[in-house]
Amino acid sequence: MRIGLIAGSGIEDLYDDRRARPRTVATEYGDVEVYLLDAEGREVVFLPRHGKGHSVPPHRVNYRANIRALAELECRCVIATNAVGSMNPNMGPGDFVVVDQFLDFTKQRPLTFFDGQDGVVRHVDMTEPYCPRIREVLRRAGEGAPGGSLHSGGTYICAEGPRFESPAEIRMFAQLGADVVGMTGVPELVLAREAGLCYATACVVSNWAAGIGEGPITHEEVVGIMAEREAALVALLRAAVASLTDDPDCACHHPFDR
Ligand code: HPA
Repeated sequence: MRIGLIAGSGIEDLYDDRRARPRTVATEYGDVEVYLLDAEGREVVFLPRHGKGHSVPPHRVNYRANIRALAELECRCVIATNAVGSMNPNMGPGDFVVVDQFLDFTKQRPLTFFDGQDGVVRHVDMTEPYCPRIREVLRRAGEGAPGGSLHSGGTYICAEGPRFESPAEIRMFAQLGADVVGMTGVPELVLAREAGLCYATACVVSNWAAGIGEGPITHEEVVGIMAEREAALVALLRAAVASLTDDPDCACHHPFDR
């Protein structure tokens, strides 16, 4: 089984493995650059979400091409990472959060494979948005992670970006039940579900959300925390890749069978 690994901000070089084989995958939504590599005895397709050198902002990431490329390369399971700000006092900078729910506050992104052009209207179920099998693998993989702690469960809210939020927006998001905020989780997970892939993400808290910590959110702060946690995140991902198995009966693979 091939495993897709979508790497977010700060960790694009995570698997900067000299043996990685670059490959361009042509999809109907555009070309995608990926890197094929062997990690922990598994075939991994490494996909830097923001492109090489972090050149694509969150609202312009070609999410449909990315997920389609992974599906075409027969990745049945996808592990993602996202940098997030936290509005939950228990989830501080440096912590990992394996979220299990999401709120969508994006505004202008193509968010489905089912656009109606083929005359088919489909509504994918979102009761269990993130694959429970992969979430459990990530939780176990992070159990022994040095420093910080791993939270199993939490609600991710996706803001449009690329600006950070205002403190008033963060207060609203917290009241709505969000724990962490990012800019890239949606529509990625929605498309993965529509494509019948198992998908879950390990979020890394890079900062307190606006108005929660002191002063403005600085790029240096975010990059600094991500760099500090890189080794632990690599260890977590390696452990997850090593133990992840596929299950043909997993509900994620049958999103429209009901
Ligand atoms: N807000 C939105 N996205 C983010 C943040 C944040 O505070 N930190 C990292 N990604």
